Amino acid sequence: MIYNTLATYYDDLVKDEQATKAWVDWIEKHKSACSMLECACGSGEITHALAKKGYTMSALDISQQMIDQAKAKDPTISYYCHDMKDLSFLKQYDAIACLCDSFNYLLDPEDVTTFFQQVHDHLRPNGIFFFDTHALDRLEEFSQEWNETGEFQDGTKYQWSIESEDDWIYQDFAFYTKDGLIQEHHLQRVYDPKWLKQTLAPYFEIESIDTDFDHPGICPGEKYFYVCTRKETK
Ligand SMILES: C[S@@+](CC[C@H](N)C(=O)[O-])C[C@H]1O[C@@H](n2cnc3c(N)ncnc32)[C@H](O)[C@@H]1O
Repeated sequence: MIYNTLATYYDDLVKDEQATKAWVDWIEKHKSACSMLECACGSGEITHALAKKGYTMSALDISQQMIDQAKAKDPTISYYCHDMKDLSFLKQYDAIACLCDSFNYLLDPEDVTTFFQQVHDHLRPNGIFFFDTHALDRLEEFSQEWNETGEFQDGTKYQWSIESEDDWIYQDFAFYTKDGLIQEHHLQRVYDPKWLKQTLAPYFEIESIDTDFDHPGICPGEKYFYVCTRKETK
């Protein structure tokens, strides 16, 4: 299962306080404190930062190990270990977010449609949906394998490699722990924004699409940021 081992080291690898602030600023610009569900909350850095800003947070992730990391930061938040493609057991929220490379784990176009439908149904009228995706440029960037190696404080060495093929991004992690080698293979999909716009249309009005937080529209960069409002009729 992905994130079983990565969860322990996730913050050491990717935690970035400036980036967390940028995510929170982006959300605050479009929706002030409200009830929010964060899908694929991971280790809860953004969840926790939004809670500190007055948002009433609920958070869901498919990995219990990631939820354990998030819970350790703020046990007062409601956490659910569940697949974000099924929100049927949850109530409605003023906003739903799926942030920081999480949407990319929806591997099948049908999963995307199901997810949009679920988000729509769990937003209150005029509710806002925030999500980001890989930019198309990432496919070109990772057509040459990217590698990072390092060592964590507990002595575990790691290797992290990323490579793209067609519209897929493969991320491979190797952890050389004291108990031996543990590997995780992650698969992510890159969706064309033209297709995403069409797929969003029955459920949402698109308020804005930015590239890398502050470049309006689709332009060269790493991530596209979508802000959508729930449509009242499908
Ligand atoms: C790159 S991490 C991002 C975590 C967090 N949003 C952040 O800002 O750091 C992706 C997360 O998506 C979760 N995830 C992947 N597929 C999921 C699914 N179908 N339902 C819920 N969570 C999922 C993983 O467990 C992981 O915690």
